Amino acid sequence: MTDLNAAFALTSPEDCARLYADWAASYDAGFAAGLDYRLPAHVAAAFLSHGGRGPVLDIGAGTGLLAGELRKMGFAGDMDAVDLSPHMLDAARAKGLYRQLWQADITQSLSLDGPYAGLVSSGTFTHGHVGPAALAQLETQAAPGALIALSINQGVYRSMGFDAALAQRPGVTLLEVPIYGPAAAEKDPAHAAQRGLIALWRHGGAAG
Ligand SMILES: C[S@@+](CC[C@H](N)C(=O)[O-])C[C@H]1O[C@@H](n2cnc3c(N)ncnc32)[C@H](O)[C@@H]1O
Repeated sequence: MTDLNAAFALTSPEDCARLYADWAASYDAGFAAGLDYRLPAHVAAAFLSHGGRGPVLDIGAGTGLLAGELRKMGFAGDMDAVDLSPHMLDAARAKGLYRQLWQADITQSLSLDGPYAGLVSSGTFTHGHVGPAALAQLETQAAPGALIALSINQGVYRSMGFDAALAQRPGVTLLEVPIYGPAAAEKDPAHAAQRGLIALWRHGGAAG
């Protein structure tokens, strides 16, 4: 079974694609349900409570957990997904939540269906995954005034330079949330207490 230590130790997009090819089939029932993975719900709630609207691009969408939470919370707008892993996108596609699904490396130049009124992401800006250099690239997909709501693992917030990258963007709001629920304490004590920071801002203005 894929574990978080392997995911956090990734060093290249090729390794990342290989890991998620193996993980896609068990990601929801094994990892997310087993550890009571709450980050997608926290990001969805933050996005909606700050006035988020569609169309939305879900960045590093994986199996579509964040889109599922947005729908459960009543969001009716269009949602597109972008992810490096075709296997994760296949799992997401099967849920029928997304209008379009793009297989792409978000650290490279992107040609998607933007501009989007909302950019959302959970679990993609973390150990062994994507750093702040991708933010400018992603903002090319945001409409003026688009609401951006991204989770960043607290453990990489300074070490990967998210603090400096976000300081260059006016009006960023940071919310601290638990990534996992109580079930994680027994199943994966090494990671159970990890926290996420949800960064919210308006592309070109304040998050309000
Ligand atoms: C921990 S999973 C999170 C998936 C989903 N957002 C969730 O919260 O369950 C991280 C996702 O980021 C994707 N990812 C990692 N690096 C990426 C990159 N450079 N470009 C696009 N997606 C990437 C992985 O394929 C994986 O699906």
